[in-house]
Amino acid sequence: MIVDKHGSALTATKNIKPDTRHGVILYVEDVSVSFDGFKALNDLNLYINDGELRCLIGANGAGKTTLMDVITGKIRPDKGSVNFGQQVNLLELDESEIAQAGIGRKFQKPTVFEALTVFENIELSLAGDKGIWTSLFSKLTGEQKDRIGEILHTIGLTPEAFYPAGRLSHGQKQWLEIGMLLAAEPRVLLVDEPVAGMTGQETERTAELLTSLAGKHSVVVVEHDMAFVRSIARKVTVLHQGSVLAEGSMSEIQSNPEVIKVYLGEETGDEITDDKSEKSGEYA
Ligand SMILES: Nc1ncnc2c1ncn2[C@@H]1O[C@H](COP(=O)(O)OP(=O)(O)OP(=O)(O)O)[C@@H](O)[C@H]1O
Ligand SMILES: [Mg+2]
Repeated sequence: MIVDKHGSALTATKNIKPDTRHGVILYVEDVSVSFDGFKALNDLNLYINDGELRCLIGANGAGKTTLMDVITGKIRPDKGSVNFGQQVNLLELDESEIAQAGIGRKFQKPTVFEALTVFENIELSLAGDKGIWTSLFSKLTGEQKDRIGEILHTIGLTPEAFYPAGRLSHGQKQWLEIGMLLAAEPRVLLVDEPVAGMTGQETERTAELLTSLAGKHSVVVVEHDMAFVRSIARKVTVLHQGSVLAEGSMSEIQSNPEVIKVYLGEETGDEITDDKSEKSGEYA
């Protein structure tokens, strides 16, 4: 059973209000995850502040996606605790309850409805669990139309509102998916490798978009593209072998000898950018 801070039962996870009086919206403490004896996360501790934009970096296999899987309820940790605000134990909620409670996740591959327009895609997410037919055949209220207009503006797709989503570029589809997440008004947005496969211009626009979302939302961004990370970074967390290796500003991270040794390596950014272009092939 889900209870609020006074111990009363909450019937809908939508009504969950995280207690952020200490300024922290996500508490991940002593979390370990093993796959066949291999520790993908190893006593990991991470605290995300309410409204912050956090970058999460680390070599392939460091545990970044696994961490997002744990926060969103896709994977249960072997040990540790994950709280939304001070009181809400996310380990007691299932994946859809966590999403409803206000933690949105953007996967790498966009999952928009290609035959529907950009507007309709957002309209559907706004409808939540009402279902596709009810939503598309019921009349929108003025308030709902305004909200869709606002989201279209935020993601920069107002001119494309009535295009079928299938006609959008890869980058535009990624923004649409972020817009679809925004319809649920999440407190936390987890974004895994948002700029993989994007053009330089799309990458820049994505940096602006994610930066603009911080404040209103807490945004956690995983990315290998170091130029991109540098362009949006406030606080950066480096994961290594399932634990936090370092945390700080980009310049602190870049001058940290441990980080240089295990992640940035001798070649620094170039190697990491190569990794990005390799991956982008999948989405071209
Ligand atoms: N379902 C699974 N079963 C077995 N091993 C897994 C599973 N998911 C992840 N792993 C392993 O756990 C480790 C961490 O994986 P994870 O995907 O979290 O890394 P990552 O930091 O996201 O890497 P990348 O930058 O390549 O996306 C890797 O060694 C990976 O092979
Ligand atoms: Mg990953």
